[in-house]
Amino acid sequence: MRRKVIAGNWKMNNDLQQSVSLIEELKNKLENKSLNCDVIICPPFTSLYEAKKLIDGSAIKLGAQNMFYEDSGAYTGEISAQMLKSVGCEYVILGHSERRTIFGERDEVINKKIKKALSQKLKPIFCVGETLEEREKDITEKVIKKQIEKGLVDVTPDEVLDVIIAYEPVWAIGTGRTATPQQAQEVHNFIRKLLANMYSKDFANMIVIQYGGSVKPENAGELLSQKDIDGALVGGACLKAESFLGIIEAA
Ligand code: G3P
Repeated sequence: MRRKVIAGNWKMNNDLQQSVSLIEELKNKLENKSLNCDVIICPPFTSLYEAKKLIDGSAIKLGAQNMFYEDSGAYTGEISAQMLKSVGCEYVILGHSERRTIFGERDEVINKKIKKALSQKLKPIFCVGETLEEREKDITEKVIKKQIEKGLVDVTPDEVLDVIIAYEPVWAIGTGRTATPQQAQEVHNFIRKLLANMYSKDFANMIVIQYGGSVKPENAGELLSQKDIDGALVGGACLKAESFLGIIEAA
């Protein structure tokens, strides 16, 4: 059975002091709790080093929100996989819809980032999802299929076991309009079958598929009880230790 994975995507929130306070509060709340899931926090780059020092020895793991696919060079403002590893990251969110829509990241670039992350032993949290317009046009599966197939080009069967897929319907992100458990399960099952065709049924059954998009303590339990939903990628609700804890405890 796949172990659930709950990840908090802080997005562009919290300066260093705010990050320290949130992590210390979360650590205290998780202390002595027996967890049924893995817990990952993804703070902004500026807090990663301090975050790693704070979570060392706890059940919390560290991730970043993005990276570039080159190792070094004249790429002003960018961060490499090795730099993330050097401050203790184990995971990196790639292909988030905000990277795709605001920063114009295409499938080909996301694929390069996924391959670089894997080559540096960073575990990608690979985001896919349709817009409201695409859902209303009933092309959700076509969109997700293209994103996954193009994002996983040249990713070997062994490598793909280190990839977490995060299905995040764009229309549910930050809107409070969560996909129903049935809607989410439907797409997760589609993704699982697609992965089985691309790799094998056994491999597909081992890959963690998270749901993201307005996950809250109130809806987490029903979402996470779905057969093919193996965790959550949480935005707003991870910025308060209490609500993030509520989602973790629902796993
Ligand atoms: O990456 C997770 C994020 O996109 C979900 O945001 O605020 O809807 O939980 P939110």
